[in-house]
Amino acid sequence: MQVSSPSNIQVLPPLSIYVHIPWCIHKCPYCDFNSHEFKGQNIKENEQAYTQALIKQIGSNDVKSNRPIQSIFFGGGTPSLFSPQSFEKIIDALRQKFSLAEFCEITIEANPGTVDKKYFYGYQEIGINRMSLGVQSFNDKHLKKLERIHSQKEAYDAATLAIKLFNDVNIDLMFALPNQTITELNEDIEEAINLHSSHLSYYHLTLEPNTYFYNHPPTLPDHDESAEFSDLVMSKLREAKFEHYETSAYAQKNNQCKHNLNYWKFGDYLGIGAGAHSKITSEYNITRSSTYKNPKQYMQEVAKNCYTQEENIIQKNDISFEFMMNALRLNDGFTFNLFEQRTGLSIKYIDNEIKLSIEKGLLEINNDRIKPTLLGQNFLNDLIQIFLRN
Ligand SMILES: C[S@@+](CC[C@H](N)C(=O)[O-])C[C@H]1O[C@@H](n2cnc3c(N)ncnc32)[C@H](O)[C@@H]1O
Ligand code: SF4
Repeated sequence: MQVSSPSNIQVLPPLSIYVHIPWCIHKCPYCDFNSHEFKGQNIKENEQAYTQALIKQIGSNDVKSNRPIQSIFFGGGTPSLFSPQSFEKIIDALRQKFSLAEFCEITIEANPGTVDKKYFYGYQEIGINRMSLGVQSFNDKHLKKLERIHSQKEAYDAATLAIKLFNDVNIDLMFALPNQTITELNEDIEEAINLHSSHLSYYHLTLEPNTYFYNHPPTLPDHDESAEFSDLVMSKLREAKFEHYETSAYAQKNNQCKHNLNYWKFGDYLGIGAGAHSKITSEYNITRSSTYKNPKQYMQEVAKNCYTQEENIIQKNDISFEFMMNALRLNDGFTFNLFEQRTGLSIKYIDNEIKLSIEKGLLEINNDRIKPTLLGQNFLNDLIQIFLRN
Protein backbone atom coordinates (compact mmCIF):
# COMPACT_ATOMS: atom_id res chain seq x y z
CA MET A 1 0.00 0.00 0.00
CA GLN A 2 1.30 3.41 -0.91
CA VAL A 3 1.62 5.78 2.03
CA SER A 4 2.08 9.50 1.58
CA SER A 5 4.29 11.16 4.16
CA PRO A 6 3.16 13.88 6.60
CA SER A 7 5.46 16.29 4.77
CA ASN A 8 2.79 16.25 2.02
CA ILE A 9 0.71 18.82 3.88
CA GLN A 10 0.21 21.60 1.38
CA VAL A 11 -2.73 23.54 2.79
CA LEU A 12 -2.08 24.72 6.33
CA PRO A 13 -5.11 24.39 8.68
CA PRO A 14 -7.03 27.33 10.18
CA LEU A 15 -5.45 28.77 13.33
CA SER A 16 -7.09 29.53 16.70
CA ILE A 17 -5.82 30.97 19.98
CA TYR A 18 -6.57 29.51 23.42
CA VAL A 19 -5.83 31.65 26.51
CA HIS A 20 -5.95 29.91 29.90
CA ILE A 21 -7.01 31.68 33.12
CA PRO A 22 -6.16 29.16 35.86
CA TRP A 23 -8.04 30.35 38.96
CA CYS A 24 -11.45 29.67 40.51
CA ILE A 25 -13.18 30.79 43.70
CA HIS A 26 -13.65 27.15 44.73
CA LYS A 27 -12.35 23.89 43.23
CA CYS A 28 -15.34 21.72 42.23
CA PRO A 29 -15.01 18.09 43.40
CA TYR A 30 -15.41 16.61 39.89
CA CYS A 31 -13.04 18.95 38.01
CA ASP A 32 -9.58 17.96 36.78
CA PHE A 33 -8.94 21.07 34.70
CA ASN A 34 -5.83 23.13 35.44
CA SER A 35 -7.72 25.34 37.88
CA HIS A 36 -6.59 26.47 41.31
CA GLU A 37 -8.54 27.90 44.20
CA PHE A 38 -7.63 31.43 45.30
CA LYS A 39 -6.38 30.91 48.84
CA GLY A 40 -5.84 34.21 50.60
CA GLN A 41 -4.10 35.64 47.53
CA ASN A 42 -4.84 39.09 46.21
CA ILE A 43 -6.96 38.51 43.11
CA LYS A 44 -6.19 41.94 41.61
CA GLU A 45 -2.41 41.59 42.05
CA ASN A 46 -2.47 38.12 40.53
CA GLU A 47 -4.62 39.32 37.66
CA GLN A 48 -2.16 42.11 36.80
CA ALA A 49 0.95 39.95 37.04
CA TYR A 50 -0.63 37.09 35.07
CA THR A 51 -1.97 39.42 32.35
CA GLN A 52 1.54 40.85 31.94
CA ALA A 53 2.93 37.31 31.62
CA LEU A 54 0.31 36.43 28.98
CA ILE A 55 1.18 39.56 26.99
CA LYS A 56 4.89 38.76 27.23
CA GLN A 57 4.29 35.22 25.97
CA ILE A 58 2.19 36.53 23.06
CA GLY A 59 5.07 38.87 22.10
CA SER A 60 7.68 36.08 22.28
CA ASN A 61 9.24 34.20 19.38
CA ASP A 62 7.65 30.94 20.60
CA VAL A 63 4.22 32.29 19.59
CA LYS A 64 4.24 32.87 15.86
CA SER A 65 2.31 32.28 12.64
CA ASN A 66 1.49 34.19 9.46
CA ARG A 67 -2.02 32.79 9.38
CA PRO A 68 -5.04 34.92 10.39
CA ILE A 69 -6.71 34.02 13.69
CA GLN A 70 -10.15 32.46 13.23
CA SER A 71 -11.14 32.29 16.91
CA ILE A 72 -9.94 33.19 20.40
CA PHE A 73 -11.12 31.30 23.49
CA PHE A 74 -10.57 32.55 27.05
CA GLY A 75 -11.01 29.36 29.08
CA GLY A 76 -10.33 28.21 32.60
CA GLY A 77 -10.58 28.06 35.43
CA THR A 78 -12.85 31.05 35.67
CA PRO A 79 -11.94 33.82 33.20
CA SER A 80 -14.91 35.92 34.44
CA LEU A 81 -12.82 36.68 37.56
CA PHE A 82 -10.69 38.97 35.36
CA SER A 83 -11.75 42.49 34.35
CA PRO A 84 -12.60 43.61 30.79
CA GLN A 85 -9.50 45.88 30.95
CA SER A 86 -7.23 42.82 31.27
CA PHE A 87 -8.88 41.06 28.32
CA GLU A 88 -8.69 44.26 26.28
CA LYS A 89 -4.92 44.37 26.84
CA ILE A 90 -4.57 40.70 25.85
CA ILE A 91 -6.69 41.17 22.70
CA ASP A 92 -4.64 44.28 21.79
CA ALA A 93 -1.44 42.25 22.14
CA LEU A 94 -2.92 39.57 19.86
CA ARG A 95 -3.96 42.20 17.30
CA GLN A 96 -0.45 43.65 17.28
CA LYS A 97 1.06 40.27 16.53
CA PHE A 98 -1.56 38.62 14.29
CA SER A 99 -4.29 39.59 11.90
CA LEU A 100 -7.72 38.64 13.21
CA ALA A 101 -10.12 37.13 10.65
CA GLU A 102 -13.14 39.29 9.79
CA PHE A 103 -15.62 37.18 11.77
CA CYS A 104 -13.22 36.16 14.52
CA GLU A 105 -15.19 34.35 17.24
CA ILE A 106 -14.04 35.52 20.70
CA THR A 107 -15.42 33.45 23.59
CA ILE A 108 -15.11 33.94 27.34
CA GLU A 109 -16.02 31.27 29.91
CA ALA A 110 -17.96 32.57 32.91
CA ASN A 111 -19.17 31.10 36.18
CA PRO A 112 -22.67 32.23 37.29
CA GLY A 113 -21.26 32.69 40.80
CA THR A 114 -18.84 35.39 39.62
CA VAL A 115 -21.23 37.66 37.74
CA ASP A 116 -20.28 41.31 37.88
CA LYS A 117 -22.75 43.11 35.60
CA LYS A 118 -20.21 45.84 34.77
CA TYR A 119 -17.72 43.14 33.74
CA PHE A 120 -20.32 41.43 31.50
CA TYR A 121 -21.13 44.73 29.73
CA GLY A 122 -17.39 45.47 29.51
CA TYR A 123 -16.60 42.11 27.87
CA GLN A 124 -19.15 42.87 25.19
CA GLU A 125 -17.80 46.41 24.66
CA ILE A 126 -14.21 45.24 24.07
CA GLY A 127 -15.30 42.87 21.29
CA ILE A 128 -15.88 39.54 23.02
CA ASN A 129 -18.79 38.12 21.03
CA ARG A 130 -19.55 34.78 22.68
CA MET A 131 -20.04 33.66 26.28
CA SER A 132 -19.89 30.12 27.67
CA LEU A 133 -21.59 29.79 31.06
CA GLY A 134 -20.85 26.90 33.42
CA VAL A 135 -24.31 26.17 34.83
CA GLN A 136 -24.10 22.33 35.30
CA SER A 137 -27.67 22.03 36.66
CA PHE A 138 -30.69 24.19 37.46
CA ASN A 139 -31.47 22.15 40.56
CA ASP A 140 -30.28 23.63 43.89
CA LYS A 141 -29.87 20.17 45.49
CA HIS A 142 -27.50 19.06 42.71
CA LEU A 143 -25.67 22.38 42.61
CA LYS A 144 -24.95 21.94 46.31
CA LYS A 145 -23.68 18.37 45.87
CA LEU A 146 -21.45 19.57 43.00
CA GLU A 147 -20.20 22.33 45.39
CA ARG A 148 -21.04 25.00 42.84
CA ILE A 149 -20.74 28.57 44.16
CA HIS A 150 -24.10 29.63 42.67
CA SER A 151 -27.79 28.87 43.09
CA GLN A 152 -30.36 27.90 40.46
CA LYS A 153 -31.60 31.53 40.46
CA GLU A 154 -28.10 32.96 39.96
CA ALA A 155 -27.56 30.53 37.06
CA TYR A 156 -30.85 31.60 35.50
CA ASP A 157 -30.10 35.33 35.96
CA ALA A 158 -26.56 34.97 34.58
CA ALA A 159 -27.86 33.13 31.50
CA THR A 160 -30.57 35.75 30.93
CA LEU A 161 -28.02 38.59 31.13
CA ALA A 162 -25.54 36.74 28.88
CA ILE A 163 -28.25 36.12 26.25
CA LYS A 164 -29.24 39.80 26.36
CA LEU A 165 -25.64 40.92 25.76
CA PHE A 166 -24.17 38.31 23.42
CA ASN A 167 -25.52 36.92 20.15
CA ASP A 168 -23.95 33.62 20.88
CA VAL A 169 -24.23 31.97 24.31
CA ASN A 170 -23.30 28.45 25.33
CA ILE A 171 -24.57 26.85 28.53
CA ASP A 172 -22.54 23.97 30.02
CA LEU A 173 -24.63 21.30 31.74
CA MET A 174 -23.89 17.84 33.09
CA PHE A 175 -26.12 14.77 33.44
CA ALA A 176 -25.91 11.49 35.40
CA LEU A 177 -25.30 13.51 38.56
CA PRO A 178 -25.14 11.92 42.04
CA ASN A 179 -28.61 10.49 42.89
CA GLN A 180 -30.17 12.32 39.94
CA THR A 181 -33.59 11.03 38.87
CA ILE A 182 -34.88 11.03 35.30
CA THR A 183 -37.61 13.51 36.34
CA GLU A 184 -34.96 15.92 37.66
CA LEU A 185 -32.96 15.59 34.47
CA ASN A 186 -36.10 16.24 32.43
CA GLU A 187 -36.66 19.47 34.41
CA ASP A 188 -33.03 20.56 33.89
CA ILE A 189 -33.27 20.03 30.14
CA GLU A 190 -36.54 21.98 29.97
CA GLU A 191 -35.05 24.91 31.93
CA ALA A 192 -32.12 24.96 29.49
CA ILE A 193 -34.36 24.84 26.41
CA ASN A 194 -36.60 27.62 27.74
CA LEU A 195 -33.64 30.00 27.95
CA HIS A 196 -33.21 29.84 24.14
CA SER A 197 -29.42 30.06 24.16
CA SER A 198 -27.73 29.50 20.80
CA HIS A 199 -25.64 26.57 22.06
CA LEU A 200 -25.72 23.87 24.77
CA SER A 201 -22.93 21.54 25.89
CA TYR A 202 -24.35 18.55 27.77
CA TYR A 203 -21.62 16.42 29.38
CA HIS A 204 -21.93 13.02 31.03
CA LEU A 205 -20.41 13.55 34.52
CA THR A 206 -17.25 11.44 34.68
CA LEU A 207 -15.08 10.57 37.67
CA GLU A 208 -11.69 11.93 36.67
CA PRO A 209 -8.55 10.70 38.49
CA ASN A 210 -7.08 13.24 40.93
CA THR A 211 -10.46 14.69 41.82
CA TYR A 212 -12.31 14.56 45.14
CA PHE A 213 -15.19 12.60 43.57
CA TYR A 214 -12.74 10.00 42.19
CA ASN A 215 -11.33 9.40 45.66
CA HIS A 216 -14.72 9.65 47.41
CA PRO A 217 -17.15 8.38 44.77
CA PRO A 218 -20.75 9.58 45.14
CA THR A 219 -23.70 7.36 44.18
CA LEU A 220 -24.04 7.72 40.43
CA PRO A 221 -26.69 6.34 38.05
CA ASP A 222 -25.74 2.86 36.80
CA HIS A 223 -24.90 2.03 33.19
CA ASP A 224 -28.52 1.44 32.07
CA GLU A 225 -29.80 4.58 33.79
CA SER A 226 -26.97 6.63 32.27
CA ALA A 227 -27.88 5.36 28.80
CA GLU A 228 -31.51 6.32 29.44
CA PHE A 229 -30.38 9.80 30.63
CA SER A 230 -28.23 10.25 27.56
CA ASP A 231 -31.14 9.27 25.25
CA LEU A 232 -33.39 11.78 27.01
CA VAL A 233 -30.87 14.63 26.54
CA MET A 234 -30.49 13.80 22.85
CA SER A 235 -34.19 13.38 22.06
CA LYS A 236 -35.40 16.44 23.96
CA LEU A 237 -32.75 18.74 22.48
CA ARG A 238 -33.39 17.45 18.97
CA GLU A 239 -37.11 18.02 19.49
CA ALA A 240 -36.24 21.61 20.51
CA LYS A 241 -34.45 22.03 17.13
CA PHE A 242 -30.92 21.88 18.47
CA GLU A 243 -28.54 20.18 16.06
CA HIS A 244 -26.52 17.48 17.82
CA TYR A 245 -23.23 18.00 15.97
CA GLU A 246 -20.62 16.60 18.36
CA THR A 247 -20.67 14.03 21.20
CA SER A 248 -21.66 16.65 23.81
CA ALA A 249 -22.42 19.74 21.70
CA TYR A 250 -25.79 21.02 20.47
CA ALA A 251 -26.32 24.18 18.41
CA GLN A 252 -29.13 26.22 16.98
CA LYS A 253 -28.83 26.63 13.21
CA ASN A 254 -25.46 28.20 12.19
CA ASN A 255 -24.34 28.55 15.82
CA GLN A 256 -21.79 25.77 16.11
CA CYS A 257 -18.74 26.76 18.13
CA LYS A 258 -16.07 27.74 15.58
CA HIS A 259 -13.27 27.37 18.11
CA ASN A 260 -14.13 23.83 19.17
CA LEU A 261 -14.94 22.81 15.60
CA ASN A 262 -11.38 23.76 14.70
CA TYR A 263 -10.08 21.30 17.34
CA TRP A 264 -12.39 18.55 16.12
CA LYS A 265 -11.37 19.14 12.48
CA PHE A 266 -7.73 18.79 13.54
CA GLY A 267 -6.99 22.47 13.00
CA ASP A 268 -4.08 24.33 14.57
CA TYR A 269 -4.01 26.36 17.78
CA LEU A 270 -1.61 28.38 19.88
CA GLY A 271 -2.00 28.03 23.65
CA ILE A 272 -1.24 31.04 25.86
CA GLY A 273 -1.06 30.83 29.67
CA ALA A 274 -0.37 28.20 32.32
CA GLY A 275 -0.45 24.63 31.00
CA ALA A 276 -1.85 25.70 27.61
CA HIS A 277 -1.26 23.36 24.66
CA SER A 278 -0.38 24.26 21.08
CA LYS A 279 -0.57 22.25 17.85
CA ILE A 280 1.15 23.72 14.83
CA THR A 281 1.41 22.28 11.33
CA SER A 282 4.24 23.20 8.96
CA GLU A 283 5.24 21.91 5.51
CA TYR A 284 7.50 19.43 7.33
CA ASN A 285 5.67 18.14 10.39
CA ILE A 286 3.02 18.63 13.09
CA THR A 287 4.33 19.80 16.48
CA ARG A 288 2.64 19.75 19.87
CA SER A 289 3.92 21.85 22.75
CA SER A 290 2.83 23.02 26.19
CA THR A 291 3.72 25.67 28.74
CA TYR A 292 4.42 25.27 32.48
CA LYS A 293 1.26 24.04 34.19
CA ASN A 294 1.51 25.62 37.63
CA PRO A 295 0.45 29.30 37.38
CA LYS A 296 3.20 30.53 39.73
CA GLN A 297 5.87 28.55 37.90
CA TYR A 298 4.48 29.70 34.54
CA MET A 299 4.92 33.35 35.61
CA GLN A 300 8.44 32.67 36.96
CA GLU A 301 9.50 30.94 33.73
CA VAL A 302 7.99 33.68 31.55
CA ALA A 303 10.03 36.23 33.57
CA LYS A 304 13.12 34.24 32.46
CA ASN A 305 11.90 34.20 28.81
CA CYS A 306 11.09 30.45 29.01
CA TYR A 307 7.74 29.75 27.41
CA THR A 308 7.75 26.11 26.38
CA GLN A 309 8.09 23.21 28.80
CA GLU A 310 7.55 20.36 26.35
CA GLU A 311 7.64 20.04 22.60
CA ASN A 312 7.15 16.92 20.44
CA ILE A 313 6.77 16.21 16.77
CA ILE A 314 3.76 13.93 16.24
CA GLN A 315 5.03 10.65 14.79
CA LYS A 316 3.51 9.38 11.56
CA ASN A 317 1.94 6.37 13.31
CA ASP A 318 0.13 8.66 15.73
CA ILE A 319 -1.15 11.27 13.29
CA SER A 320 -4.09 9.28 11.90
CA PHE A 321 -5.11 8.17 15.42
CA GLU A 322 -5.01 11.75 16.72
CA PHE A 323 -7.05 12.93 13.75
CA MET A 324 -9.65 10.21 14.45
CA MET A 325 -9.78 11.00 18.18
CA ASN A 326 -11.03 14.45 17.23
CA ALA A 327 -12.93 14.08 13.96
CA LEU A 328 -14.95 10.99 15.00
CA ARG A 329 -16.56 13.08 17.73
CA LEU A 330 -18.38 14.94 14.95
CA ASN A 331 -21.68 13.26 14.16
CA ASP A 332 -21.31 14.35 10.55
CA GLY A 333 -17.80 12.91 10.41
CA PHE A 334 -15.28 14.19 7.87
CA THR A 335 -14.40 14.01 4.17
CA PHE A 336 -11.50 12.01 2.65
CA ASN A 337 -10.14 15.37 1.55
CA LEU A 338 -10.07 16.78 5.11
CA PHE A 339 -8.20 13.69 6.36
CA GLU A 340 -5.58 14.01 3.60
CA GLN A 341 -5.21 17.78 3.98
CA ARG A 342 -4.78 17.72 7.75
CA THR A 343 -2.58 14.63 8.10
CA GLY A 344 -0.60 14.61 4.85
CA LEU A 345 -1.48 10.89 4.62
CA SER A 346 -3.43 9.14 1.89
CA ILE A 347 -6.87 7.90 3.00
CA LYS A 348 -5.58 4.45 1.94
CA TYR A 349 -3.31 4.56 5.00
CA ILE A 350 -6.35 3.75 7.17
CA ASP A 351 -8.07 1.39 4.68
CA ASN A 352 -7.98 -1.67 6.96
CA GLU A 353 -9.22 0.23 10.01
CA ILE A 354 -12.09 1.75 8.03
CA LYS A 355 -13.11 -1.66 6.66
CA LEU A 356 -13.06 -3.22 10.14
CA SER A 357 -15.10 -0.35 11.62
CA ILE A 358 -17.70 -0.69 8.85
CA GLU A 359 -17.89 -4.49 9.41
CA LYS A 360 -18.56 -3.83 13.10
CA GLY A 361 -21.33 -1.38 12.20
CA LEU A 362 -19.51 1.55 13.83
CA LEU A 363 -18.72 3.62 10.72
CA GLU A 364 -20.40 4.40 7.40
CA ILE A 365 -19.22 5.96 4.15
CA ASN A 366 -21.44 8.10 1.97
CA ASN A 367 -19.76 9.35 -1.23
CA ASP A 368 -16.50 10.76 0.15
CA ARG A 369 -17.75 11.33 3.69
CA ILE A 370 -16.93 9.03 6.62
CA LYS A 371 -19.08 9.25 9.72
CA PRO A 372 -19.84 7.28 12.86
CA THR A 373 -23.12 5.33 12.85
CA LEU A 374 -25.45 5.70 15.84
CA LEU A 375 -23.75 2.58 17.27
CA GLY A 376 -20.36 4.21 16.61
CA GLN A 377 -21.48 7.35 18.44
CA ASN A 378 -22.60 5.26 21.42
CA PHE A 379 -19.37 3.22 21.47
CA LEU A 380 -17.03 6.02 20.43
CA ASN A 381 -14.05 4.80 22.48
CA ASP A 382 -14.22 1.33 20.87
CA LEU A 383 -14.39 2.94 17.44
CA ILE A 384 -11.41 5.24 18.10
CA GLN A 385 -9.32 2.35 19.50
CA ILE A 386 -9.50 0.62 16.11
CA PHE A 387 -7.31 3.41 14.69
CA LEU A 388 -4.62 3.05 17.38
CA ARG A 389 -1.28 1.85 15.91
CA ASN A 390 1.69 0.41 17.78
C1 LIG B 1 -13.31 24.29 32.22
S1 LIG B 1 -14.93 24.12 32.71
C2 LIG B 1 -15.29 25.85 32.52
C3 LIG B 1 -16.54 26.41 33.12
C4 LIG B 1 -16.41 27.26 34.35
N1 LIG B 1 -15.16 27.16 34.98
C5 LIG B 1 -17.47 26.80 35.34
O1 LIG B 1 -17.34 25.69 35.81
O2 LIG B 1 -18.38 27.56 35.58
C6 LIG B 1 -15.79 23.44 31.30
C7 LIG B 1 -16.93 22.49 31.54
O3 LIG B 1 -16.48 21.15 31.59
C8 LIG B 1 -17.46 20.37 32.23
N2 LIG B 1 -16.81 19.40 33.14
C9 LIG B 1 -15.83 19.67 34.01
N3 LIG B 1 -15.49 18.53 34.68
C10 LIG B 1 -16.29 17.53 34.22
C11 LIG B 1 -16.45 16.14 34.52
N4 LIG B 1 -15.71 15.54 35.44
N5 LIG B 1 -17.37 15.44 33.83
C12 LIG B 1 -18.13 16.04 32.87
N6 LIG B 1 -18.03 17.35 32.55
C13 LIG B 1 -17.13 18.09 33.22
C14 LIG B 1 -18.37 21.33 33.00
O4 LIG B 1 -19.65 21.35 32.38
C15 LIG B 1 -17.67 22.66 32.83
O5 LIG B 1 -18.57 23.73 32.76
S1 SF4 C 1 -15.47 26.47 38.42
FE1 SF4 C 1 -15.16 25.33 36.46
S2 SF4 C 1 -12.95 25.21 36.13
FE2 SF4 C 1 -13.29 25.90 38.26
S3 SF4 C 1 -13.15 24.04 39.45
FE3 SF4 C 1 -15.33 24.32 38.96
S4 SF4 C 1 -15.68 23.21 36.97
FE4 SF4 C 1 -13.44 23.43 37.28
